[in-house]
Amino acid sequence: MQPMLNIAIRAARSAGDFIARQVGNIPNLLIEAKAGNDFVSEVDRQAEARIIDTLLKAYPDHGILAEESGQHSGSGEFEWIIDPLDGTANFLHGFPHFAVSIALRQGGKLQQAVIYDPMKQELFTASKGAGATVNNRRIRVTKRKSVEGALLGTGFPFRAKEHFPAYQAMFADFFADASDIRRAGSAALDLAYVAAGRLDGFWEIGLKPWDMAAGALLIREAGGLIGDFSGEGDYLQTGNVVAGNPRLFSDLVRRLQPHLTEPLKR
Ligand code: IPD
Ligand code: CA
Ligand code: CA
Repeated sequence: MQPMLNIAIRAARSAGDFIARQVGNIPNLLIEAKAGNDFVSEVDRQAEARIIDTLLKAYPDHGILAEESGQHSGSGEFEWIIDPLDGTANFLHGFPHFAVSIALRQGGKLQQAVIYDPMKQELFTASKGAGATVNNRRIRVTKRKSVEGALLGTGFPFRAKEHFPAYQAMFADFFADASDIRRAGSAALDLAYVAAGRLDGFWEIGLKPWDMAAGALLIREAGGLIGDFSGEGDYLQTGNVVAGNPRLFSDLVRRLQPHLTEPLKR
């Protein structure tokens, strides 16, 4: 296995197992509001510190882009993109669905990905060109050809409620033909589940690079596509993301178009 993937797995397990041990301690945690509806706890921060510590001990010259502590450029072309706890709202409510997400980008290209769900002890990994796995078993996206009958995942735009009317129109369009839609509260796991064929497809408005980077490589290595709302590759910049197997991806992108307000056009 890739040594860099190994280090990422070590970091994700250490952070994830720490988070899982804190589940019984939630009422005593220090919780801060970063913005309206957006909370961070000392667990997010400590988990992130563990991850960065593990990665930089192994690779002191690598750069970091992490949700809670921001960007630190390294001296070379490697950058780790880290969400120490994706699904903080779930965690803070004791809703056991959250994950650690770590990706490695080299010269702008995603190379390694780890998403670890410490409650289910599921470890999703991908290396560019080598496929995607969950707990060492190969995973693939589903073969569903269109929204018809699909099980889709999504997230609500709770931080940018001005997008809710457009979101509602997208939801109504997909819901009319899909079998059902899930909002489980962790974008990283949503993307991992698309890669694993547990969801047919996914879309969300306004994500951040750390929510998506590892999931994006998992999906591509599992035979799927991920893109922005015009079906292009700018999702890490725009935060608007859609994913699925290649045929479903095209159907989702086509169906999104009439609902895109100006700020959502990419
Ligand atoms: C959030 C989760 C959620 C998504 C939000 C993300 P966080 O990440 O992934 O599912 O809807 O947009 O910000 O804040 O728990 O790391
Ligand atoms: Ca997140
Ligand atoms: Ca987070």
